[in-house]
Amino acid sequence: MLCNAADMDQIVDEVWACLHAGANARKERAPFTMLQVATIALDGAPAVRTVVLRRVSREQRSVMFHTDVRSTKVAELRRDPRLSLVGCDLDSGIQIRLHGIARIVETPSETKAVWDASRPRTLIVYRTPLAPATPVASPAEAHATTHAKDPDSSAGFENFCLIDVTVSRIDYLDLNPAGHRRASLVFEEGEWRGTWLAP
Ligand SMILES: Cc1cc2nc3c(=O)[nH]c(=O)nc-3n(C[C@H](O)[C@H](O)[C@H](O)COP(=O)(O)O)c2cc1C
Repeated sequence: MLCNAADMDQIVDEVWACLHAGANARKERAPFTMLQVATIALDGAPAVRTVVLRRVSREQRSVMFHTDVRSTKVAELRRDPRLSLVGCDLDSGIQIRLHGIARIVETPSETKAVWDASRPRTLIVYRTPLAPATPVASPAEAHATTHAKDPDSSAGFENFCLIDVTVSRIDYLDLNPAGHRRASLVFEEGEWRGTWLAP
């Protein structure tokens, strides 16, 4: 059964507001700043990890995070760009699940401005010559290379990419004690269409 339009609009507004707050959080983290991203591993098994939500555009139905082009998730997304993201606000009892298609943004013309605008300490991870998941004899071996002083601010830029996800489906769950609500929102013919689901 379709939600009535007002309910649906409210939920769509709430979802994007939560995501915007997550991406725009500065020192104060918002509940949706960290999301878990699931991909399909190269062997077909599920794979999941935490990322920082960096940019959200409701108009483009897009959420974005930063990652290392050498990471396992990028290899997985090159093979199958479908992914799903989940976050929750423990205080309000809201869970938001997003389903979409990832675009790996790695051309310097698209990544350079984002790199330049990023805080230096968030870029350290890209400067190590060790690709993520490289076996090391001890954690110290990776620290030594990661923390090597490098005066060149573009060092590591070649390892930096953005994952831009176009969201096609949203699953919203509200565990309000007054009554749980779950809605499925699908983007069709230029608009979000909602259906209530049993929680
Ligand atoms: C709080 C937190 C935030 C993280 N943010 C990111 C991120 O924004 N991008 C990223 O690639 N990895 C991030 N990571 C590391 C990933 O969870 C993951 O360990 C790493 O990217 C390797 O994943 P993969 O082997 O599946 O590619 C974060 C980890 C934590 C604990």
